[in-house]
Amino acid sequence: ATERTLSIIKPDATRRNLTGAVVKKFEDAGLRVVASKRIHLSKAQAGEFYKVHAERPFYDELTTFMASEPVVVQVLEGEGAIQKNRDVMGATNPADAAPGTIRAEFAESVGENSVHGSDSPEAAKEEIAFFFSGLELVG
Ligand code: CMP
Repeated sequence: ATERTLSIIKPDATRRNLTGAVVKKFEDAGLRVVASKRIHLSKAQAGEFYKVHAERPFYDELTTFMASEPVVVQVLEGEGAIQKNRDVMGATNPADAAPGTIRAEFAESVGENSVHGSDSPEAAKEEIAFFFSGLELVG
Protein backbone atom coordinates (compact mmCIF):
# COMPACT_ATOMS: atom_id res chain seq x y z
CA ALA A 1 0.00 0.00 0.00
CA THR A 2 1.04 3.62 -0.45
CA GLU A 3 2.36 4.95 2.84
CA ARG A 4 3.92 8.09 4.24
CA THR A 5 6.83 8.24 6.65
CA LEU A 6 8.69 10.99 8.49
CA SER A 7 12.36 11.48 7.62
CA ILE A 8 14.87 13.78 9.31
CA ILE A 9 18.21 14.70 7.78
CA LYS A 10 20.27 15.23 10.93
CA PRO A 11 22.76 18.01 11.80
CA ASP A 12 25.85 15.97 10.87
CA ALA A 13 24.49 15.64 7.32
CA THR A 14 23.14 19.19 6.83
CA ARG A 15 26.48 20.54 8.14
CA ARG A 16 28.40 18.60 5.47
CA ASN A 17 26.06 19.70 2.62
CA LEU A 18 24.69 16.18 2.22
CA THR A 19 21.00 17.15 2.05
CA GLY A 20 20.82 16.64 -1.71
CA ALA A 21 22.80 13.40 -1.63
CA VAL A 22 20.47 11.97 1.03
CA VAL A 23 17.33 13.03 -0.84
CA LYS A 24 18.71 11.47 -4.05
CA LYS A 25 19.02 8.10 -2.30
CA PHE A 26 15.36 8.26 -1.28
CA GLU A 27 14.15 9.45 -4.69
CA ASP A 28 16.19 6.81 -6.50
CA ALA A 29 14.44 4.18 -4.34
CA GLY A 30 11.04 5.42 -5.53
CA LEU A 31 10.14 7.60 -2.56
CA ARG A 32 8.58 11.01 -3.27
CA VAL A 33 9.22 14.08 -1.09
CA VAL A 34 5.70 15.39 -0.41
CA ALA A 35 6.68 17.86 2.33
CA SER A 36 10.03 19.40 3.28
CA LYS A 37 11.39 22.11 5.54
CA ARG A 38 14.69 23.13 7.12
CA ILE A 39 14.34 23.99 10.79
CA HIS A 40 16.54 24.46 13.86
CA LEU A 41 15.00 22.50 16.74
CA SER A 42 15.24 23.78 20.28
CA LYS A 43 16.50 21.29 22.85
CA ALA A 44 12.96 21.14 24.28
CA GLN A 45 11.48 20.35 20.86
CA ALA A 46 14.11 17.64 20.25
CA GLY A 47 13.32 16.23 23.68
CA GLU A 48 9.61 16.13 22.92
CA PHE A 49 10.16 14.45 19.54
CA TYR A 50 12.38 11.75 21.08
CA LYS A 51 10.38 11.36 24.32
CA VAL A 52 10.10 7.57 23.82
CA HIS A 53 13.87 7.50 24.46
CA ALA A 54 13.70 9.69 27.59
CA GLU A 55 14.97 6.93 29.88
CA ARG A 56 17.85 5.89 27.62
CA PRO A 57 21.41 6.77 28.64
CA PHE A 58 21.99 8.55 25.31
CA TYR A 59 18.86 10.81 25.54
CA ASP A 60 20.73 13.95 26.57
CA GLU A 61 23.44 13.43 23.95
CA LEU A 62 20.80 12.70 21.30
CA THR A 63 18.65 15.76 22.01
CA THR A 64 21.67 18.08 22.37
CA PHE A 65 22.94 16.88 18.99
CA MET A 66 19.56 17.23 17.27
CA ALA A 67 19.31 20.83 18.52
CA SER A 68 22.92 21.70 17.64
CA GLU A 69 22.41 22.76 14.02
CA PRO A 70 19.60 22.78 11.43
CA VAL A 71 17.81 19.64 10.30
CA VAL A 72 15.65 18.98 7.25
CA VAL A 73 12.35 17.29 8.07
CA GLN A 74 10.48 15.62 5.23
CA VAL A 75 7.51 13.42 4.53
CA LEU A 76 8.30 10.64 2.07
CA GLU A 77 5.52 8.85 0.21
CA GLY A 78 5.53 5.60 -1.73
CA GLU A 79 4.72 1.92 -1.84
CA GLY A 80 5.76 0.47 1.54
CA ALA A 81 7.43 3.79 2.36
CA ILE A 82 8.16 3.02 6.02
CA GLN A 83 10.22 -0.11 5.33
CA LYS A 84 11.69 1.28 2.10
CA ASN A 85 12.95 4.35 3.97
CA ARG A 86 14.54 2.10 6.61
CA ASP A 87 16.17 -0.08 3.96
CA VAL A 88 17.72 2.97 2.27
CA MET A 89 18.93 4.39 5.62
CA GLY A 90 20.66 1.16 6.69
CA ALA A 91 21.29 -0.01 10.26
CA THR A 92 21.29 2.57 13.08
CA ASN A 93 24.99 1.97 13.74
CA PRO A 94 26.91 2.81 10.55
CA ALA A 95 29.39 0.03 11.38
CA ASP A 96 26.53 -2.44 10.80
CA ALA A 97 24.95 -0.68 7.80
CA ALA A 98 24.89 -2.46 4.43
CA PRO A 99 27.02 -1.05 1.60
CA GLY A 100 25.25 1.61 -0.44
CA THR A 101 22.94 2.68 2.38
CA ILE A 102 22.90 6.28 3.60
CA ARG A 103 24.39 5.42 6.97
CA ALA A 104 27.13 3.25 5.44
CA GLU A 105 28.14 6.07 3.10
CA PHE A 106 27.59 9.17 5.23
CA ALA A 107 27.08 8.49 8.93
CA GLU A 108 29.81 9.34 11.42
CA SER A 109 28.73 7.30 14.47
CA VAL A 110 25.68 5.65 16.06
CA GLY A 111 24.66 9.02 17.46
CA GLU A 112 25.58 11.19 14.47
CA ASN A 113 24.01 8.85 11.94
CA SER A 114 22.77 11.33 9.34
CA VAL A 115 19.09 10.33 9.18
CA HIS A 116 16.04 9.37 11.21
CA GLY A 117 13.01 7.50 9.88
CA SER A 118 9.74 6.42 11.49
CA ASP A 119 9.78 2.79 12.60
CA SER A 120 6.07 1.90 12.36
CA PRO A 121 2.79 3.18 10.89
CA GLU A 122 1.77 4.51 14.32
CA ALA A 123 5.08 6.35 14.74
CA ALA A 124 4.86 7.75 11.20
CA LYS A 125 1.42 9.21 11.87
CA GLU A 126 2.53 10.79 15.14
CA GLU A 127 5.87 12.05 13.81
CA ILE A 128 4.35 13.58 10.64
CA ALA A 129 1.77 15.40 12.77
CA PHE A 130 4.55 16.64 15.06
CA PHE A 131 6.11 18.66 12.21
CA PHE A 132 3.47 19.18 9.51
CA SER A 133 -0.15 20.24 9.08
CA GLY A 134 -2.28 18.48 6.48
CA LEU A 135 -2.07 21.56 4.23
CA GLU A 136 1.72 21.14 4.00
CA LEU A 137 1.52 17.61 2.55
CA VAL A 138 1.45 17.89 -1.22
CA GLY A 139 1.36 14.52 -2.94
P1 CMP B 1 17.07 7.48 15.40
O1 CMP B 1 16.49 6.60 14.35
O2 CMP B 1 17.01 8.94 15.16
O3 CMP B 1 16.33 7.17 16.79
C1 CMP B 1 16.97 7.30 18.04
C2 CMP B 1 18.40 7.65 17.90
O4 CMP B 1 19.18 7.46 19.05
C3 CMP B 1 19.06 6.77 16.87
O5 CMP B 1 18.59 7.10 15.59
C4 CMP B 1 20.53 7.03 17.13
O6 CMP B 1 21.04 8.09 16.38
C5 CMP B 1 20.51 7.41 18.60
N1 CMP B 1 21.25 6.43 19.36
C6 CMP B 1 21.00 5.12 19.44
N2 CMP B 1 21.93 4.53 20.22
C7 CMP B 1 22.78 5.50 20.62
C8 CMP B 1 23.93 5.53 21.41
N3 CMP B 1 24.42 4.42 21.98
N4 CMP B 1 24.55 6.72 21.60
C9 CMP B 1 24.04 7.84 21.03
N5 CMP B 1 22.95 7.87 20.27
C10 CMP B 1 22.33 6.71 20.06
